[in-house]
Amino acid sequence: MKLILLGAPGAGKGTQAEVICNKLNIPAVSTGNIIREALSKGTEMGLKAKSYIDAGQLVPDDVVIGIIKDRLGKDDCSNGFILDGFPRTIPQAEALDAMGIDIDRVIDIEVPDEKIIARMSGRRVCKSCGATYHTEYKAPAMDGVCDVCDAELIQRKDDHPDTVLERLEVYHKQTEPLKDYYSAKGILRVVEGQEDVADTTALTLKALED
Ligand code: AP5
Ligand code: MG
Repeated sequence: MKLILLGAPGAGKGTQAEVICNKLNIPAVSTGNIIREALSKGTEMGLKAKSYIDAGQLVPDDVVIGIIKDRLGKDDCSNGFILDGFPRTIPQAEALDAMGIDIDRVIDIEVPDEKIIARMSGRRVCKSCGATYHTEYKAPAMDGVCDVCDAELIQRKDDHPDTVLERLEVYHKQTEPLKDYYSAKGILRVVEGQEDVADTTALTLKALED
């Protein structure tokens, strides 16, 4: 199964990708996570991407397309994968097509902008393994500590309210047109993001079947 998760920043793509990759036993590929890892290691690509991420802007297409080409060429992607946060622009979607990759389903997780703002302010991520939490909706067993690997939970810099508004604007302008792009191919399914993560997962898994 080759799957794309589409949706606004904070719609729950990463959260769903984590659950679904365990259920379907295929890797979740998040361009955001790959870039943040490069950033923390201080690689050239990470440094190049930093100013865009901090400003809530998209990293240039050629950089992320390069990342995806590398990642999808790895052995663990041969039986399928879940793309979380890619493609984000029409040229990125066209690049995926040009690579000869046949996507089975595109799940668009819809969450209204007002709800997004609340979700982002409460999000905490594990410094080490990247697992995602929410202070209210998905709290870790121990405050500030990752359930999976015991490392410290931190708040992402780009979850600052002003940056979130910028990211939402970028989403509506540059990423939302992908809904029409994939709808025209007949592979788009819309899932209304629910208050409960498990309810959203149930709808997503159902959308994979039809
Ligand atoms: P990226 O890391 O991909 O960020 P994003 O898409 O902007 O969105 P998020 O990761 O914030 O949202 P999400 O949908 O994964 O939400 P989550 O599950 O965490 O990208 C970061 C940056 O990298 C971009 O701004 C850009 O600069 C660059 N970049 C990355 N890919 C790129 C590309 N292809 N092209 C160009 N640039 C690129 O959920 C959010 C919160 O809500 C969590 O706290 C979670 O616990 C909570 N939550 C989740 N589900 C629910 C629920 N059902 N109910 C209540 N709370 C919930
Ligand atoms: Mg994410």
